[in-house]
Amino acid sequence: MSIIDIDNKFAKYFIPPNIKEAKKRGKEVVQFLDFDPIPKEMIDIGKGKYYLIRTYGCQMNSHDSETMAGILEQMGYQPTDEEDEADIILFNTCAIRENAEDKVFGELGRLKHLKLEKPHIILGVAGCMSQEEKVVNKILRSYQHVDLIFGTHNIHRLPILLRDALLNKEMVVEVWSKEGDVIEHIPKVRQDGLKAWVSIMYGCDKFCTYCIVPYTRGKERSRRPEDVISEVRELARKGYKEVTLLGQNVNAYGKDLDIDYGFGDLLEDLRKIDIPRIRFTTSHPKDFDDHLIEVLAKRGNLVEHIHLPFQSGNTEILKKMARKYTREEYLELVRKIKQAIPDVVLTTDIIVGFPGETEEQFQDTLSLVEKVGFDSAYTFIYSPREGTPAAVMEDNIPEDVKKERLQRLMDLQNQISRDKNKQLKNQVVEVLVEGVSKTNSEVLSGRTRGNKLVNFKGDPALIGQFVLVKITEPQTWTLRGELVSNAQEELLDVVN
Ligand code: 5AD
Ligand code: SF4
Repeated sequence: MSIIDIDNKFAKYFIPPNIKEAKKRGKEVVQFLDFDPIPKEMIDIGKGKYYLIRTYGCQMNSHDSETMAGILEQMGYQPTDEEDEADIILFNTCAIRENAEDKVFGELGRLKHLKLEKPHIILGVAGCMSQEEKVVNKILRSYQHVDLIFGTHNIHRLPILLRDALLNKEMVVEVWSKEGDVIEHIPKVRQDGLKAWVSIMYGCDKFCTYCIVPYTRGKERSRRPEDVISEVRELARKGYKEVTLLGQNVNAYGKDLDIDYGFGDLLEDLRKIDIPRIRFTTSHPKDFDDHLIEVLAKRGNLVEHIHLPFQSGNTEILKKMARKYTREEYLELVRKIKQAIPDVVLTTDIIVGFPGETEEQFQDTLSLVEKVGFDSAYTFIYSPREGTPAAVMEDNIPEDVKKERLQRLMDLQNQISRDKNKQLKNQVVEVLVEGVSKTNSEVLSGRTRGNKLVNFKGDPALIGQFVLVKITEPQTWTLRGELVSNAQEELLDVVN
């Protein structure tokens, strides 16, 4: 285990991303620990004070922010959206692409004046960026108004770190570049009483050559099934309508445990719990086995939506990315999934402009998009991440070519998304009403089982309920419809 802190200046202890070293992981035994009670002197420290957490990146980060909020609220802090009102501002950062990092540095710079005006404010940086040596160095050098830096493995230590930051004039830095433990029973403040995220595993051992996550989030480690099951049971008891199971690669769930129990087994156990919808993200095609498909085909509360990143449609590029499957294997997996769940909603992640990607190879990506017919896709231009193997590959594709490829890909996907949504015209779908539309206060919005956003006119009293909506105007990213019924008994035989 290595610790960076201000005293030892991390050079001695910090292990920057290094694929050879990181791949040796597995020797340290994962510890299952319980969250330590908040130290006595910190219990009321936040009484009458406010916190603000700015979250960047993926759902894992959003869920980590809920954990940070839970810990801060146990210390008496209350939430605020106003920077001027906040006594503590935390940035929960993302390192996946360079532009995500640039945004955070911009925000940190902007807040310098606030810190000068109100020196008592604690300004903290957490999340994946904190796990990078160059980021910690840059903050120490150029953003000295930051009070606290902590990593993805140190969230449970927030009470102690905050205490040190409040007592010290110097920046408090604690980032462990360890493989990671599993800490149970950390308090959480969930976004709403309807939908909840539940982490089922942490970290990633896939080491795709472009990706920083295996370094910033540590070794793949699963929570014990009984802990996940009891958390979902508790959410059901509290009246939550939907859970999303989270992990960088949920299909690898259980592989690191000393029991013969995988993701399919977990879903088989969870589907018996009386919670209306269960989703999961993200899937890696390599670990998506037949048993899992079999369990998903039983449907019930397991919704018909699979997010299945393919990244590139060309086998050679997939090999350079170390994705561990070929174009044909991916297509075969999709065929099996569609055979078992014909109305499945498939979404994906795609990278364009990976080092050395030729026009022909890019066209394989376009043709795969067409062949599969994804309902939607997140599309990205490759961004080199220091310390990853791809960062030292020759990146010979001009920026304008990358941008042009991205545009062509987005145009194609938008066309497909529109066509897919058109097929829903005049169909009746089950919608979990989540709130009032952001753009029109008379309109409600919610999601289908397939995670499609639906807007329709209705009484705000329906928020939190399942309703049936007839789709009247399908669009590229959203569906407009008319309320048919809110009777639970009629929620039978509807499409997703
Ligand atoms: N550059 C561009 N996109 C990336 N992703 C991960 N790393 C990079 C990178 N270095 C994308 C992948 C992944 C999604 C979460 O982000 O598509 O699935
Ligand atoms: Fe990154 Fe690949 Fe792991 Fe996903 S599976 S987090 S892309 S290394």
